[in-house]
Amino acid sequence: MVAARITVNGKETAISPAAPHTTTLDFLRDRGLTGTKEGCAEGECGACSVLVARPGVHKPTDWVAVNACLVPVAALDGQEITTSEGLATAGEPGTPSTLHPVQQEMAVRGGSQCGYCTPGFVCSMAAEYYRPGRCAHAEPSDGADAEHGPNGFDLHALSGNLCRCTGYRPIRDAAFAVGTPADDDPLARRREEAPPAPVATEYTQDGRTFVRKETLAETLRVLSERPDAVPVAGSTDWGVEVNIRSRRADCVVALDRLPELRELRVESDHIEIGAALTLTEIERRLDGGVPLLAELFPQFASRLIRNGATLGGNLGTGSPIGDSPPVLLALEASVVLAHADGEREVPLTEYFTGYRQSVRRPGELIRAVRIPLPLSRVTAFHKIAKRRFDDISSVAVAFALDIEDGVVRKARIGLGGVAATPIRARSAEAALEGRAWSAETCAAAAALLRAEGTPMSDHRASAGYRAAMLGQSMLKLYAQTSEAVSA
Ligand SMILES: Cc1cc2nc3c(=O)[nH]c(=O)nc-3n(C[C@H](O)[C@H](O)[C@H](O)COP(=O)(O)OP(=O)(O)OC[C@H]3O[C@@H](n4cnc5c(N)ncnc54)[C@H](O)[C@@H]3O)c2cc1C
Ligand code: FES
Ligand code: FES
Repeated sequence: MVAARITVNGKETAISPAAPHTTTLDFLRDRGLTGTKEGCAEGECGACSVLVARPGVHKPTDWVAVNACLVPVAALDGQEITTSEGLATAGEPGTPSTLHPVQQEMAVRGGSQCGYCTPGFVCSMAAEYYRPGRCAHAEPSDGADAEHGPNGFDLHALSGNLCRCTGYRPIRDAAFAVGTPADDDPLARRREEAPPAPVATEYTQDGRTFVRKETLAETLRVLSERPDAVPVAGSTDWGVEVNIRSRRADCVVALDRLPELRELRVESDHIEIGAALTLTEIERRLDGGVPLLAELFPQFASRLIRNGATLGGNLGTGSPIGDSPPVLLALEASVVLAHADGEREVPLTEYFTGYRQSVRRPGELIRAVRIPLPLSRVTAFHKIAKRRFDDISSVAVAFALDIEDGVVRKARIGLGGVAATPIRARSAEAALEGRAWSAETCAAAAALLRAEGTPMSDHRASAGYRAAMLGQSMLKLYAQTSEAVSA
């Protein structure tokens, strides 16, 4: 097997002697690329943001910003990354470097004071600068709002970046001032060529191994043979375990580029979403085709995290406060589980068996999530958290209702944060079905919703608050949709 290598700012470099769990952040800094900073080491601040060349959604290659503190460098064997240093074009020796257009705007608009967060901001900003489809509006006001600039810049691209001293207005000014890449811009041109292919990797240091196989069958074989192996996709959960809880695995098995886990298929009676597609890829490829998922994505972490996070990883953690399970429960989704012995499909209602436990057997992977069609027309996702964006749910509620002639024909409600597992709100669903879609029906269902699950009190919310929010969520849905439904 060829030694593991990574291309950083156009230069190929050996990954050895980094350990298999060494983060891309530590790897870069150890090699003198100290523009990439560590703020939190848990995906919260964006100081470590770098650009990775990934399979594109609308072009062959996208420059995707990710948290270098969460991704093990071994996962980038054969891949290309660009850091803040690589954005600036080095000038002739003795002459100053030329700033990249996003760096230039940050500089002239006062977007940087102490500068600690700035390299991370410019990498996230550059990813949005190069996003295919981002374009200036004919009229500056056309399509521009508080969260989108007249240049089409989506401010959510920066939702995973924190700044403690500049204040966000000058940073937003810089973002909304960037133009479009020049024709000879090397990173823009790179998008037109194929992305780096995934590379089969078996990288061992000090008795620990990072393995990437080319196919699902080979991957399942490794998992069957090595019960100690940890499968990892985007590493947005696993990376936190490694950095903050010092967890180490003797064998990590990469899932993120397995072709069998990266398909998105729309069939006549269901949609199948590969477990290793990132949330950003799903969001952009579905393009609003599943409105409940479209409502979930902007509320799930930050763009930086969504660029790595997968549905397989979200369900794989078994967390009762994961945001996708309530939505997938309301959509009546099932999971396709793959094992070396074969595949099976399990309804999500039967998948979770206890706190962070599921029916998934050792050696078994989530290959895909299936959502039956047709979709219910009245849907909503309410995430109650302390911050509007990039926060963990105190409670999450997803609704999917079929309402015909003013009568609720079918109701599916998924809940997170109120029990040891994500659950369906069965009694509230029964109180809605067959009844008129009215304030009285919703008040009765809201009363039952308040009693669903066994919410706990913790540092995020009290049990009483969680129960109250469940009821409010039902009333909010009615207030938001009653006019549209009766129209
Ligand atoms: C700053 C920050 C903010 C976050 N905000 C949110 C949020 O708002 N909402 C939310 O729900 N979560 C949030 N998370 C948690 C995390 O991003 C999600 O759980 C994400 O979906 C995990 O996906 P991943 O691919 O990165 O998983 P990984 O970290 O790669 O894996 C997580 C676990 O799932 C297992 N796994 C991965 N893929 C599979 C598979 N195909 N089959 C079986 N098991 C698998 C792994 O073995 C591991 O145990 C946040 C995390 C961070 C760091
Ligand atoms: S160091 Fe804070 S997100 Fe990586
Ligand atoms: S410029 Fe100091 S933290 Fe942002």
